[in-house]
Amino acid sequence: MKQDKIKKKVIELREELHYHNYRYYILNDPVISDFEYDKKLNELIKLEEDNPELYDSGSPTVRVGSDLNKEFKSRQHKIPMLSLGNTYSTEELQLFVHRVEKLAGGTIDFVCELKFDGTAISLIYEEGKLISGITRGDGYTGDDVTDNVKTIKSIPLQLQGDYPPLIEIRGEIFLSKDNFAKLNEKRLNNGETPFANPRNAAAGSLKMQNSSMVAKRPLECFVYNPVGSNIPYNSHYKNLEKIKSWGLRTSPHNALCKSFPEIINFIDKWDKEREHLPYEIDGVVIKVDDLQIREELGFTAKSPRWAISYKFKAESALTKLKGVSFQVGRTGAVTPVANLQPVKLAGTIVKRASLHNEDIIKSLDLHYNDMVYVEKGGEIIPKITNVDKPQRDSESKPVTFIINCPECNTILTRIEGEVARYCPNSASCPPQIKGKLEHFISRKAMNIEGLGSETISLLYKNGLIETISDLYRLKKEQLIKLDRIGEKSADNIIKSIEKSKSNPFSKILFALGIRYVGETVAKNVTANFKSIDNLINASYDQLILVEEIGERIANSLINFFSAYENRHLIDQLRSFGLKFEETKIEDSKLSQNLNDLSFVISGVFSRSRDELKSLIEAHGGKNVSAISAKTDYLVAGEKTGPAKLTKAEKNNIKIISEDDLLQLIYSK
Ligand code: IVH
Repeated sequence: MKQDKIKKKVIELREELHYHNYRYYILNDPVISDFEYDKKLNELIKLEEDNPELYDSGSPTVRVGSDLNKEFKSRQHKIPMLSLGNTYSTEELQLFVHRVEKLAGGTIDFVCELKFDGTAISLIYEEGKLISGITRGDGYTGDDVTDNVKTIKSIPLQLQGDYPPLIEIRGEIFLSKDNFAKLNEKRLNNGETPFANPRNAAAGSLKMQNSSMVAKRPLECFVYNPVGSNIPYNSHYKNLEKIKSWGLRTSPHNALCKSFPEIINFIDKWDKEREHLPYEIDGVVIKVDDLQIREELGFTAKSPRWAISYKFKAESALTKLKGVSFQVGRTGAVTPVANLQPVKLAGTIVKRASLHNEDIIKSLDLHYNDMVYVEKGGEIIPKITNVDKPQRDSESKPVTFIINCPECNTILTRIEGEVARYCPNSASCPPQIKGKLEHFISRKAMNIEGLGSETISLLYKNGLIETISDLYRLKKEQLIKLDRIGEKSADNIIKSIEKSKSNPFSKILFALGIRYVGETVAKNVTANFKSIDNLINASYDQLILVEEIGERIANSLINFFSAYENRHLIDQLRSFGLKFEETKIEDSKLSQNLNDLSFVISGVFSRSRDELKSLIEAHGGKNVSAISAKTDYLVAGEKTGPAKLTKAEKNNIKIISEDDLLQLIYSK
């Protein structure tokens, strides 16, 4: 074939395949057989392979995925992806409707939609072409999973009709009940842990590093929200119909409701019908239809005032309690877990339920072999809500909490005023050691790539690591001697351990896994005390002056630093070069890279805001407190307010992350 003929054929095949995808996945009405479809697809794959210059990132062949492993880049959402306020009560729902109507000054229309139990996605189409797919992340920044999203057949790569030049569409990615069950069956057969629910399965699949594996997972998508400045109509309902005409898959069950009773009808209908739907829903979302009224209603810090989700009450099932096992976590807390006679609940088979703590066991008055009610709330693991006492065998013994640690036999302790029992042997109780190491290397802590919980177990089993500081003693030669670790991964592990030494003090403090010291507390503590020595020497009274630190956290910090082994650990980590103080700006590093540039800092960062501000000034930049047309950059962290982001966008101000700022400073 001649070159121009080949090009024409490729374009023709792409258009045909886009159309057949649309017939199959959006309209549910295919006009050619799977066989014919595959023939065309294979012809296109072959032509593209032979003519790589014709590559197009929007070609239907990208749905096959790629074998490359990749790390996901973080991307800031232009408009934050907030969550919804929710309720289980119709009274509260009625209050919502009244409140909204009062503010609107009369009765208004609502759109009722199903609340899909999956994972949220933001899709951006430029000139009709899908250019990015980003997860919700923390609402402000998500992972760029574009390649994976492109493998999902119900997400069009190319819009059709009269779409605007740029549009962001949000929706939900999920797995059908059937496909979820099949996936778990396969995992069980392969000796892998099954997913707890379809939502986890969808989120997990979307985050797989190899898009050709994602292509094998039958993920689906419904879109429910166009956002940005190019929204066609003032009515949400009309917009949903419009985006459908662009080839996007909207739910066929969206309804325009004109009164509270109509909303209730919709809810009642779907509470009954949901068991017949091929996918899970966990409620109904009720949204104001009129976008102008939405604008007037605005947002709270977390969610819009113009929408609410009504959650269905959890389904419950009755089954037999076969036994109770006790698990030890990284902090030594011992959690009781109920082992149940397998029972079907909300589409999945339940075999275990969390019992939380000793007090819950007592308040349920739980006996072995009891018939118990299990319920699935928002949590992944179901819980026991009640016991069917009339069915109890008079011989059966009450469930009691164990006295000794099931892993190391140490006698458990219970701190006064707390519900949990702990194993105090933190230095040599195996699950505590492994748990601490796993927490230390985790993404939000030291982010040591290349090490996962399996490698940690392997290193521990082989006696290579026992405390956190052992990580920094690891040598490549030791690693390659182990099965399953090749030369390249050994190199990667050593490199990322080395890289972790440059983490800021706040990350290290969080990574130490001190009880109750989460990310935010760690940031507040390091911003206040500046160095580990100041922190170790801080008194209880000084500690509780810090924002978000109360009695419990202050005591936990004091306990941690008063233990000899913890202070020894810190000394050792310090000797390996880890930073135990807020970084000071060294004169030699100063540049004028930010000369004449002005910055607004907003949100929570891994460094303190003061530290970022001094960095900006030290490199010639200016800090300003409010955004104006003259501002050059908004440095946005977690929890940057939506108003600030919108204002920055309106003024065409570049929105950058903490990492982008450091790049600006140090990359020249
Ligand atoms: S609208 C401002 N509509 O529920 C919030 N969300 O709790 C806009 N979800 O993160 C979201 N079905 O992942 C909306 N029909 C629907 C939905 C839906 C499921 C999820 C979504 C969101 C979460 C909010």
